[in-house]
Amino acid sequence: MYRHFGMSSSIGTSSLRTRLDALERAVRARSDHVPRIGLVLGSGLGGIADGLTDSIPIPFAELPGWPSASAPGHAGRLLLGMSGDVPVCCLQGRLHLYEGHDPALVVEPVLLMGRLGAEVIVLTNAAGGVNEAYGAGTLMVIADHLNLTGRMPLLGPNDDSLGPRFPDLTETWSRRLRGALHRAAAAERMGLEEGVYAGLTGPTYETPAEVRMLRALGADAVGMSTVLEAIAARWAGLEVCGVSLVTNPGAGITGAPLTHDEVLAAAAQAGPRLARVLERFIGTVGTAGTVGQGAG
Ligand code: HPA
Repeated sequence: MYRHFGMSSSIGTSSLRTRLDALERAVRARSDHVPRIGLVLGSGLGGIADGLTDSIPIPFAELPGWPSASAPGHAGRLLLGMSGDVPVCCLQGRLHLYEGHDPALVVEPVLLMGRLGAEVIVLTNAAGGVNEAYGAGTLMVIADHLNLTGRMPLLGPNDDSLGPRFPDLTETWSRRLRGALHRAAAAERMGLEEGVYAGLTGPTYETPAEVRMLRALGADAVGMSTVLEAIAARWAGLEVCGVSLVTNPGAGITGAPLTHDEVLAAAAQAGPRLARVLERFIGTVGTAGTVGQGAG
């Protein structure tokens, strides 16, 4: 039996492996598409999937145990399709802790993408700038993270056939993929910073004191997602990279109040830039022999 330390949403007591089996069957009933790369598209960034061809959308609500995504700016569907010559899958929207979802449910999408065949996971998000040099519109490759959610997706009995009991997180964010992202951005003549992403639960934005604390802790950007997904993906032996789109200076930096509308507007504005980088990245990483680096 699999125990959960859940909030309001229960995902039952079936084992993770059983749930992933059911999810995989539900997808396979629709398509035999085998993605090489899986992308999670954050707030306001779902349009990055517009460039896919032959795409098959599967709404979250049609996948067993998944709720329909409720966060504004998140379409809430899994897309299977082609980015150029590379088979990919995209999560347009994601499941968040702040919606009350169990940490184990939050990470099912990335684990499902691995089940479907993806060896590389690209996590994107909208984030607040903690580093004062990272203003709205900054694209930041995630070099490392701080999991400040107080949650872990891997609590409970471990299924050793899926991943190790004590996963190593020394290189959670693949050096190889970070290099590929920087080369893709350079080829697009685009600036791309690098830094540490702090993941909190939300749903509030931070206080100014918290933003100062995060800076003191070494964070460059802050958001409400991504860290649990990265942990679970590494556990499962997937190679992970990520890009934060800074949509606003962190709370207190300018003194202006933060709004979700501002976040979505900034994401919509910069989304096409990020899409170009990712398209080029997928074209090089997805066609270069074996894409993944295997279990870490
Ligand atoms: N804080 C947390 N999450 C965010 C922010 C922020 O300032 N901006 C976009 N997502």
